[in-house]
Amino acid sequence: MQIDFHAHILPGADHGSDSLVTSLRQIRFAQDAGIDLLIATPHFYPRHEALEPFLARRAAAHARLMEALPADTPRIRLGAEVQLCRGLDHLAGLEQLCVEGTRVLLLELPPDFSVRAYEQTLDALLYERKLTVVLAHVDRYVPGTVDFLLELGFLAQVNAAPFCHLRTRKAALCRAESVQAVALGSDIHGVSTGYREFLEMKRRLGPAYDAVMARTASLLGL
Ligand SMILES: [Fe+2]
Repeated sequence: MQIDFHAHILPGADHGSDSLVTSLRQIRFAQDAGIDLLIATPHFYPRHEALEPFLARRAAAHARLMEALPADTPRIRLGAEVQLCRGLDHLAGLEQLCVEGTRVLLLELPPDFSVRAYEQTLDALLYERKLTVVLAHVDRYVPGTVDFLLELGFLAQVNAAPFCHLRTRKAALCRAESVQAVALGSDIHGVSTGYREFLEMKRRLGPAYDAVMARTASLLGL
């Protein structure tokens, strides 16, 4: 099973898709690339938006999409790309941001991230809320910081884009080949690149691609 764990494909839910037409094109690209399951992960910025309006917007976008989706397209499960903020662990209903049917949360680190500043929140997400936390696009962050978080029990999602550039490919390969890498993502916004980057990632990873996909399926209980 091929799973795109990080995709901005819900019409109007965030800046990833401006319309139903865009979303349908994105999903067609995914289908052509052999994707079986898409996790729809609109951005959620808890510093700027309350949970309820976000969930309402996501549900409405999902309903619009499902109505228009042809029968033979990849399956879609709801999730979110949640930006870390201090006190996120206290957010009532946080579990509703996990991938549907799981306790798996896709977490984006904020621009001002430091372990020291967010340590209490990170600790509580894992050990009080008892969530499985997957760090979104680990290829974007300072390697030392990521390594430290992975040692503490966080898991990793790797984006497709760095596999397309000489200067970033080797580090992305190392990340994706590590056992903490449990997911791969297109992080698709709009339709400009389609799934070309995802296919390039698949080609570059070779057998390691299937290994990560197997870990994703296991994480989601598939
Ligand atoms: Fe994203």
